[in-house]
Amino acid sequence: MKKTATPDKRLPQALGGIDIFPLRPGTGALLCSADALDEMEGSDPFDPGGEEERDQKMSTMFDDLYQESLVRAEHKVWILSDLQQGLPENTRRCLAAGISDFELLGRPAEQIWYLGDAVEGVEADRLAAMCRLQEEAFASLRIPLCYATGNHDYDYSRTHRDQAPWMPFYEMVRDHPGWKTTAKSEDFYFRTQIGKYPVYFLCDHVSQTNGWCVTHSRVAWGRENYPYTDDDAQALKAKMAAETEPMITCGHYGFSGCNRDHELMDHLLPLPKTERVHFYGHSHIGDWAWGKKDAWRRICWVDWHDVPQIDVSSFENIRGRHCRSVLFHIYADGNMGVFFRNHDLHCFTEAYFPAGENAPQGWDGMRLRYDPPQGTEGGQTVRTKKEEAASPSGRS
Ligand SMILES: [Fe+2]
Repeated sequence: MKKTATPDKRLPQALGGIDIFPLRPGTGALLCSADALDEMEGSDPFDPGGEEERDQKMSTMFDDLYQESLVRAEHKVWILSDLQQGLPENTRRCLAAGISDFELLGRPAEQIWYLGDAVEGVEADRLAAMCRLQEEAFASLRIPLCYATGNHDYDYSRTHRDQAPWMPFYEMVRDHPGWKTTAKSEDFYFRTQIGKYPVYFLCDHVSQTNGWCVTHSRVAWGRENYPYTDDDAQALKAKMAAETEPMITCGHYGFSGCNRDHELMDHLLPLPKTERVHFYGHSHIGDWAWGKKDAWRRICWVDWHDVPQIDVSSFENIRGRHCRSVLFHIYADGNMGVFFRNHDLHCFTEAYFPAGENAPQGWDGMRLRYDPPQGTEGGQTVRTKKEEAASPSGRS
């Protein structure tokens, strides 16, 4: 590749030091420093060798689906998580890849949902730098941002138990005009809306004295002081069940059936029939160390439910190798579209459409299986009256 392009000046100031070199109008851009561009001479994975060949590479079925969806979508959300690192220089690089790719798509979202682990580590200077970089970068988009904390937001508090908790990214979001997270550090959820659709963010939480903390969807310290009981989970579930429009949930973790931690999340099961889809992070796509056999699993289902769970992580290139996120669309008929984006390669890698009609069908049967009446042998053996009538012997 020849270094003939002019750096794209739309890059936010916060990302200084890394330039964007557009390949061709409408075909994405290569994001790197001029020096790195020189080093890549002759081995550029973005330049297959000719304009015709390149055009073929950049226009895919996913691009066509996305463009069609964009026209139909009534609501559009950008969902990301897990920038998770203590390396400000590489943070600049990941932000450059993600945000400039989002810019090249035309800033196609009315909200940003950031699902935790924005920072990592315990060094105050690095944490402050990571927060500053991200606040400037995301603020430059001028799109409302919602944030649900994840386990690494509590790294500093975990190692400074004798002090009041300090979660710099959470506190920055809480104080940033127009951005939203829990009002208090001990709150375990907050509610917002996208159009008429309710959205619940399920968050890790810590007491204001640091006497207890929930991360990894379990009580990480101070179990004897933890104030919430199953009654609190049931109260939230009742609130969700009273919603009159299809509901979306988000958080750093999934429910039972997801790739990784879900212990406390499962206190909300069985989910009320208002639930349509859940988005989570924490399980960095391509991360063999933590994802193990599910390292590449982007979509799974809540156990016993017809509710899909979407893994949106991660917005970094260390554990997950590529900087990834999801673009989420809601259409006028209540159906939804999920588009997985690889920001490094400027392409959509998968598309999925969870139908709005799925959930109510079979819901009562799910409830019996998951939450069997007392005196029965267990969820899996419970049969509905309809099933009993169809097959009295129980064989299938
Ligand atoms: Fe995490």
